Amino acid sequence: MTAKEIKAKFIRFFEERGHARIPNASLIPENDPTVLFTTAGMHPLVPYLLGESHPLGKRLVGVQRAIRTGDIEEVGDNRHNTFFEMLGNWSLGDYFKKEAIHFSFEFLTKELGLNPQHLYVTVFEGDADAPRDDESIHLWQSEFASAGIEANVGVRIYLYPKAQNWWGPAGETGPCGPDTEMFIDTATVGEGRPSPHDAARYGATCHPNCDCGRFIEIWNDVFMEYNRVKSSGSGAWSSERNSKRNSDPRPPTPDQYRYEPLTQRNVDTGMGVERVTYVLQGKETVFDTELFSTIFASFVPRLAKRDTRSERIIADHLKAATFLIADGVTPSNLDQGYVLRRLIRRAVRYGKLLGMADSFVRSPIEATIATYKEEYPYLTERHDDIVSVAVQEEKRFRGVLAQGLQRIAKLLAASEGRSDRVIDSKTVFELFSTYGFPVELTEEIAKERGYTIDREGFKAEFLHHQELSRQGAEKRFAGGLADHSQMSIRYHTATHLLHQALRTVLGDHVFQKGSNITPERLRFDFSHPVKLTAEELTRVEELVNEKVKEALPVKREIMSVAEAKRLGAIGLFEEKYGDEVSVYTIGREGEAPFSREFCGGPHVTNTNEVGTFRIVKEEALSAGVRRIKAVVE
Ligand code: SER
Repeated sequence: MTAKEIKAKFIRFFEERGHARIPNASLIPENDPTVLFTTAGMHPLVPYLLGESHPLGKRLVGVQRAIRTGDIEEVGDNRHNTFFEMLGNWSLGDYFKKEAIHFSFEFLTKELGLNPQHLYVTVFEGDADAPRDDESIHLWQSEFASAGIEANVGVRIYLYPKAQNWWGPAGETGPCGPDTEMFIDTATVGEGRPSPHDAARYGATCHPNCDCGRFIEIWNDVFMEYNRVKSSGSGAWSSERNSKRNSDPRPPTPDQYRYEPLTQRNVDTGMGVERVTYVLQGKETVFDTELFSTIFASFVPRLAKRDTRSERIIADHLKAATFLIADGVTPSNLDQGYVLRRLIRRAVRYGKLLGMADSFVRSPIEATIATYKEEYPYLTERHDDIVSVAVQEEKRFRGVLAQGLQRIAKLLAASEGRSDRVIDSKTVFELFSTYGFPVELTEEIAKERGYTIDREGFKAEFLHHQELSRQGAEKRFAGGLADHSQMSIRYHTATHLLHQALRTVLGDHVFQKGSNITPERLRFDFSHPVKLTAEELTRVEELVNEKVKEALPVKREIMSVAEAKRLGAIGLFEEKYGDEVSVYTIGREGEAPFSREFCGGPHVTNTNEVGTFRIVKEEALSAGVRRIKAVVE
């Protein structure tokens, strides 16, 4: 069964059971500044898991692209990927454990044809925050019994604490709960597998959650009935595992959080497409499936040397880079841009190790587009941009890579015989700033040669840079502005006028997805399914210019979130302003306003300061998201 067939079966199975299909959202989460990437299908659903009503109903199904970067250095083994797809079904206060477990068992055994003898499950063992999940144990027992299989705690059903059997929240706080996970015993599926009793390979005491690779987790049913909130008086969360790092979001049970019951009991499930595909196909690894074959074929024949791990790293990283660029990320030293930079540069370094003398990233990127273009048509639309961003980044790094590597080699030769085997922080920083070596890459190269790096010292060197980044982030939060020059302020007000004009002309489904302003232009991303017609573009442009001519006052007010919502204020990022929000209203006193938006400002005081507005470009950004570039003159 191909990955495409598995996805189609999953969607159909749940649609037949009353689930509505939701769109595959961007890798860059909207409205959540605490995480860098979409790491799971539930990410775009957080408000609905917390109780807001979803326009498509209480039963949802979908396939979601995701990025997890906690494991970048692990990529190369048989199951870690940076980019992956997840299938999920959700119940928003509708069905709970009984139906969820039944759907899972039925789908795996009837639709995918998995022999239930090969299936193992894990359940939450209980702790001070939540009780042992006896209900799930009983439900699994009866599912297995329906297939004539005995199951009990310790026989097919294994209990684990929070570290294994609890999921979420995706960020620092939010919906979460105990989960039950399904594993396939790969020793019994597929041809020519080693015996499950091969203790040398698997370890004598192998169990579903051990790391030897025999049991592969394919599906996770999370029973989201808790909201993790900060206990009053607690400091910031110390662990880096969840928040900005975006690793697998399993919480380490910090004391500074409380688990409160949610107003509704939800189900959030996630099935890893790559894993289920390779396991069902009886392949040894995800890299042996059609999800990677075209990508390998695009560069492996040109390699001077072969090395499995390096080849996997190149394929994985350039696939992830393709999707990141397609979702609007460009390489930089900050946030998502830094992750993209690390992925491309690490791939380029491994390409060089395998003897790639020239630029090579274009072919694996084009092969990724070819592999996914039917399900992600915007990859084809953005083909040229994707290739050019990646190739440029490769060129930038290739230019300095050899020198940087020489610098490391010299340093190591000079320190030969010294006992500490540490690369000092100054050199690490120099490699970062002069040669463009992401610190993780320097660390990896050091490790290969039996060295470590002075990370703490590097952090200190980096502090100044971080300070700059923080300022940058604050500026971005001040309404998406790169600076506060008068020109940018005019563009900022123009952006509000544009946002409302698009809603007036196209409809209320239009929402801001992103905004970027420089003194030269504005760039505005918004939800809309199709290309705008010439007539629509003209109407939007005319409406903005009309409002400029009307010389409407622009007024800022601070009010409660509830009041702002009551007044119909639109816009993103409301959470980050706390309970009191700043709202900008464009319109005359006593008349219905033209626009009202949550916003930190700044803005001009009257629309007549904006100038003549002109749209210069309208294009697709990703599925269901359009981008407009415009100028004011
Ligand atoms: N959020 C859970 C996971 O990622 C289930 O979808 O595993």
